[in-house]
Amino acid sequence: MKVYLETFGCQMNELDSELVRGHLHSLGYSFTGDPNDAQVILYNTCSVREQAESKAYSRIGIVGKRKAAGEELILGVLGCMAERDGIDMLRRYPQVDLLCGPGELDKLPLLIDNVRRTERISTSPRTDRAPARSVTSGDGRVALAGNKSRRSATLGAAEDSLEALDLGRAFEPREGSNDRSAYVRITRGCNKFCTYCVVPYTRGAEVHRPPDHIVEECRRLADSGVLEVTLIGQTVNHYLYVHGAAVDASGGETPQVGPGAAAFTRTGLDRLRSDGQRVTTFAELLYRIHEEVPEIKRLRFVTSYPRDFGDDILDVMAACPRICRYLHVPAQSGSNRILKLMNRGYTVEEYLEFVQRATRKLPDVCLAGDIIVGFPTETDEDFEATVQLVRSVPFKNNFIFKYSPRPGTTAIDRYPDDVPTEVKKLRNNHLLAVQSEVSTAVHRSWVGKTVEVLVEGPSKAAADAAEADAIDARSTVSAVHGSTDQQPATRVELRILGVSQGASSNGAASSPRQRGLQSDGRTAPLPAGTQLVGRTGGDLITFFDCPAGRTPESLRGTVLPILITGSASLLLQGTAVGPQGTAFGTDG
Ligand code: 5AD
Ligand code: SF4
Repeated sequence: MKVYLETFGCQMNELDSELVRGHLHSLGYSFTGDPNDAQVILYNTCSVREQAESKAYSRIGIVGKRKAAGEELILGVLGCMAERDGIDMLRRYPQVDLLCGPGELDKLPLLIDNVRRTERISTSPRTDRAPARSVTSGDGRVALAGNKSRRSATLGAAEDSLEALDLGRAFEPREGSNDRSAYVRITRGCNKFCTYCVVPYTRGAEVHRPPDHIVEECRRLADSGVLEVTLIGQTVNHYLYVHGAAVDASGGETPQVGPGAAAFTRTGLDRLRSDGQRVTTFAELLYRIHEEVPEIKRLRFVTSYPRDFGDDILDVMAACPRICRYLHVPAQSGSNRILKLMNRGYTVEEYLEFVQRATRKLPDVCLAGDIIVGFPTETDEDFEATVQLVRSVPFKNNFIFKYSPRPGTTAIDRYPDDVPTEVKKLRNNHLLAVQSEVSTAVHRSWVGKTVEVLVEGPSKAAADAAEADAIDARSTVSAVHGSTDQQPATRVELRILGVSQGASSNGAASSPRQRGLQSDGRTAPLPAGTQLVGRTGGDLITFFDCPAGRTPESLRGTVLPILITGSASLLLQGTAVGPQGTAFGTDG
């Protein structure tokens, strides 16, 4: 049976999809990139913004038409929409055979199997004790969701079946594979309850994985050829594992509910330690991975919460060369009044204090963020304050979103969505233009410097990958500077440069090189050659010519020192210098 699996939304979903793929693969399912070639179609959905949901609904509609025309297909909706809409979706979309919330993904093979065997599930397949909600639509289809309750601090390993999914991840040798990057989850869920956000409701309480599990996963990924690991969590700097608090029957550590924000004050942490508790902080976790798995040449993390980002983390970043100088720290707004309504828990002044501290300790750090425009009651003055914030921080990019009221959130109940759509659009476009100026200045500041670039491949392939990744504005590989249209950076950039993609004679994508980017951002004709693209540790997209005597294939997954000779708002251009083709594995 062939499966088509499409992912919407954030890195968490990308990782979930990767784990689901591995799980189904180990059970004999094969995968296809063409939905028309599949017998099982799975959409791993996102509810964070309405736009992502609409996209998924339109896909569901297309499958409905195919089924109505007599095709035998199994359609499964996974992730946050399954969690949020549950039985309603089954009612409204008869073509959907199964729903599986993010807390139930380990049960997915069982669900598919039941659909295959019975066509329609007649009973809940749930067998363990986890508090999942299993509802049927009346015609036997099932919505398996609800394993996201705010559970007690000690979670039995048997109950946390999700951990098994992460731990059971496939670690196939990546021989011949181009993909040298992987996500590793450090926390699940979120406790922040920003008033606009569905995540605490769809993904449940913040649960922290044991450091040993995380380090072991990194080690096994490195053994299978992974060079770049991105640690993911909703607020990674709030990672804190209290040893001995959650153990299974054999004494092994298990995931535990986070200790809450109070633990991140100096006194909170001191109190924990003076109680004789052994804890692992986020800084200590980063250090452990850096020291214990040196084969990982790039270690990064998303997303950081602007409050409680201690100097200890910045110090570890400064001391550890393989930890990327990259911080994705969403500000969300530059107005204290709006931040308060958002329940963000910090002021603009505190945000700026953090940025100052980060840039003082890590002068070459690359900063990225998220901003929401048009939050209820946002005035021109509030918006102007956001513009000022964006102007005053050297953001390499910002993902800019128009506020979208989400069912189930506090904001939708408490604040009418009173900023007109037209005003949201104007503010969005204005902020994009401001961010573009800021991004241009940030990229220009790299001209003349030599940076280490992890080679992704020929520019066409990379452009396609960026396009695929740009489905999600949160993608780490995306350098889109804040478009809600989520255009891939390369496309945006190429359009700015007046280059049409695919125009080159050798079939590779047009790249800035083909027009020739100058350090002032203007373009000039340059002879065509094989263009490669990669990223710096700070996640800046860099184009450069394939060095003489090397093939793009031989350079993929290696690090090259690149002298930056030109820039635009989203891209760097450079030339390979020094020991060309220095392999990642040999340069320490
Ligand atoms: N409307 C608009 N943007 C939102 N985000 C989260 N919820 C909403 C919403 N209801 C944005 C925030 C967050 C990013 C993942 O999505 O900026 O950081
Ligand atoms: Fe949502 Fe706020 Fe949690 Fe981020 S920190 S996932 S915006 S509730």
